[in-house]
Amino acid sequence: MTLDTCVGNLKLETPGMGASGIMDETGKSMARMLSSGAGAAVTKSIGLQPNLGHKNPTFTEVKGGFVNAMGLPNPGIELFKEEMEAAVSAGKVIGSIYGATADDFVILAGKMEDYGAAAVELNLSCPHAKGYGMEIGVDAELVGDIVSAVKSSLTIPVWAKLTPNTHILKELAVAVQDAGGDAIVAINTLKAMVISPEFGRPFLSNKFGGLSGPAVRSVGVRAVYDIRTVVDIPIVGVGGISDWRDATQYIMAGACAFQVGSAIAAKGLKVFESINRDLEEFMRDFGYGAIKDMVGVAHE
Ligand SMILES: Cc1cc2nc3c(=O)[nH]c(=O)nc-3n(C[C@H](O)[C@H](O)[C@H](O)COP(=O)(O)O)c2cc1C
Repeated sequence: MTLDTCVGNLKLETPGMGASGIMDETGKSMARMLSSGAGAAVTKSIGLQPNLGHKNPTFTEVKGGFVNAMGLPNPGIELFKEEMEAAVSAGKVIGSIYGATADDFVILAGKMEDYGAAAVELNLSCPHAKGYGMEIGVDAELVGDIVSAVKSSLTIPVWAKLTPNTHILKELAVAVQDAGGDAIVAINTLKAMVISPEFGRPFLSNKFGGLSGPAVRSVGVRAVYDIRTVVDIPIVGVGGISDWRDATQYIMAGACAFQVGSAIAAKGLKVFESINRDLEEFMRDFGYGAIKDMVGVAHE
């Protein structure tokens, strides 16, 4: 019995990766994640220029998860080189990038490839960054243009991370596949708001943010299930995964690998080892020899 899995032609020793934005801003934190049982680390989304992100408050806990509007703070692609070098020497790193145009994504993806990324993940789904993420990721034609531009300029796999904040999710997934995308990552956070009754105004400086954690899991599982019905390319499931049971739901909905974000904040990096151990036990008890034997079984 084995926990290894493939996202297209990218082989992972274990199926769980660190999701973009959580403990992945430095080479050292990604190296720690990789030595804690993660099959790969996905970097914080990186843009062309350094970005301070939104003003505080940018993060708050709610029942069932977190709402954040960090605003994509990052050092910019040039300064990120050093962090990538430290991370790729420890294991597989997926370079997450964001831009406003196809040209931005092509430049950023080329740098990530030069820095040694095993794949790039296009952030077409952040719900709280003006002109980026979800604002461009809900236009199927634009999504297709960005994916095909990046795809034609790279040799490493191109993954597209989609938003659940849309009624055309299936259309977006088909656009990624038609443009030659190697995998779809679903989901990013759900657009959300928290209001402070004492102050009588939205809690986050950006007013809106993105909901993550256990509260979004059923939305994510449904999204992966829906996507599986319209495309054949691999799917990576993300949203509210904190144990083997959550991860298995995504796999059975059609994902061949998964990512863990908020649960790292809640439980620490030991979450990867406990998922791996318990997933192995479940697979042994239920006669699954490999992750691939469970992928999409809920559709049968
Ligand atoms: C603090 C925080 C920062 C995030 N930053 C990014 C980011 O830079 N790029 C991205 O694609 N997703 C980002 N996300 C979304 C996560 O990668 C993930 O899609 C989402 O949180 C759902 O997974 P989870 O419930 O396991 O956290 C962020 C999430 C959180 C909580």
